[in-house]
Parts: sequence; structure tokens; C-alpha cells
Amino acid sequence: MTGRNQTIISEFLILGLPIQPEQKNMFYALLLTMYLTTILGNLLIIVLIRLDSHLHTPMYLFLSNLSFSDVCFSSVTMPKLLQIMQSQVPSISYAACLTQMYFFLFFADLESFLLVAMAYDRYVAICFPLHYTAIMSPSLCLCLVVLSWVLTTFHALLHTLLTARLSFCADNVIPHFFCDMSALLKLACSDTRVNELVIFIMGGLILVIPFLLIIVSYAQIVTSILKVPSARGIHKAFSTCGSHLSVVSLFYGTVIGLYLYPSANNSTVKETVMAMMYTVVTPMLNPFIYSLRNRDMKGALGRVICKRKISFCL
Ligand SMILES: *[C@@H]1O[C@H](CO)[C@@H](O)[C@H](O)[C@H]1NC(C)=O
Repeated sequence: MTGRNQTIISEFLILGLPIQPEQKNMFYALLLTMYLTTILGNLLIIVLIRLDSHLHTPMYLFLSNLSFSDVCFSSVTMPKLLQIMQSQVPSISYAACLTQMYFFLFFADLESFLLVAMAYDRYVAICFPLHYTAIMSPSLCLCLVVLSWVLTTFHALLHTLLTARLSFCADNVIPHFFCDMSALLKLACSDTRVNELVIFIMGGLILVIPFLLIIVSYAQIVTSILKVPSARGIHKAFSTCGSHLSVVSLFYGTVIGLYLYPSANNSTVKETVMAMMYTVVTPMLNPFIYSLRNRDMKGALGRVICKRKISFCL
């Protein structure tokens, strides 16, 4: 490093989406709509679960936590992306970039842990229905949530500190729509081998293990239902597990694909589309898949609206 003419980079340029200029307004409208849908859908779930005491069960408390995490996760990237799409110079300061990276990792991990907690909750509910309330006690639920927050804090901090020690020299253009960790690593001009090793090991622990746990609990659910086959039971199991599994696979499939197999052929478009899937599409779909199709939630919506109406009339 000595003797090299090194400029300290104080800001990055975010290239944004790989689209033509004439498509910009259409994508802007589309992304804004998706972002607002995510925020409104998830806030509706949080408010419903808060207001309706029938929904104060472990499953819905986890769901409300997941909705909170979805709101934050999409707010880490979307407002900045929307701002960048409208600005002439799409710059982000070094500190803001690392902050975005930290919170991105934080909420992505939190989502991952909460999906595991939800799968475990369904596993206990279906395989041990008689012991459900004893096993999933409020203290265990709180423990799982707190543990998720603690683990995710450390994991995100580890990656952010490791990235903060890298130096960036000439190239400051991020070919992505947010400050993505792997995109930043490609720009660094210091040695990134430690970072890559940590990403690989921690990625394995933080993503692959939760994914396997979820698959195992759903497999247990399916086998326990097939043991005592009834048409209604099977229909119910496949309709809930099927939609849960599709969201889980979408989320983990794209994240694992991106982080554990950094692309050799540098196809930015493919990476962007995959990143779009888990940053924009899954947080938007989660409320619909996990709850709004569900009878309890519809009942709660009805009750909350009726109650308001009555108090309004009185
Ligand atoms: C998250 O879950 C915990 C434990 O079940 C619960 O006490 C808390 O209210 C939930 N938080 C939100 C925002 O729903």
C-alpha cells in the first residue's frame, strides 16, 4: 500500500436498477406501489394483532414480529432506491452505506430466525397439540424473539466491522440498488479473503441451518398428517404448509444463491433480480400468505371494524 497514490473514498455511487431510461417512470411507480403495499399490509397485521385479544397467541405474536421486521427490512433499501431513481447524482456517503448494510443484514437475519420460530410453532401445534400451550409458553416465545435479536445484532455487527476495515481506492460505483456487502467487497482494494471466509462460514450457519430446520419441521408436519389421513386435514396442511414453504424457499433460495455462490460471470442483472425477490417481493407477500387469507385474521378485521363503528355511533 505504501507509495501508492491512495484517495480516500467518502461516498459511493449507486448504479440502481439495470433498466433503460424510458422505463424509469414505470419502474418507479411499480416500486413505489410495492413499497406502500408492504408497509400498509404489514402495519394492518400489526395493528389487528395488537387490537384483537383472540390473536394474542404465539403464532400471531411471531407473525406480528415478522411484519415489523418486514416493514423495517423494506424501509432499509426502498426509500433510498426511490430517491436515487429521481436524482441526478445517485450518491450515498460512506457512513450511510455501512449503516444501510448493517440494517440490511440485521433485518434479513431477523426475518430468517423468525421464520424458524414460526415453523417450530406450527410443528409443535400439529405434532403435539395437547402439549402446545405448555411448550409454547409466553416466556419461551419471548426467549426465542430475544435470542433472534441478540444473534442478529452480533452477526450484522461482525460483517459491518469487517467491511469497515477495508480500504476503497479508485472505483466507487456500486453496480447494485443498495449497499450490498458482496458488491462492496468487489470494490475494495485491500485483501478481502478474511471477509469472504467469514461470509461463507457465517452464511452457512445463519442461513443454511435455519432453512434446514424449517424443512425438517414441515416434513414432520406432513408425515404426522399423512399418518392419520383425513381429506380435510390433508387439504389444510397442504394449503398452509404449501404457501409457507413457497415463501421460505423464495427467501432462502435467493439469499443462499447470492451469498454462498458469488457469481463467477458477474451477471449484474441476474443478481439484481434475485436481490429484488427477497428485498421487495417477499416482505410484500408475507402478510398475504401468512395471514390475510386466514379466517382468524378476517374475523379479527371484522371485529375491529365493527367495534370502531359502534363506538363511533355511541
Ligand atoms: C414479538 O413477540 C414477543 C414475544 O412473543 C411479543 O411479546 C411482542 O409483542 C412481539 N412484538 C411485536 C411487535 O409484535
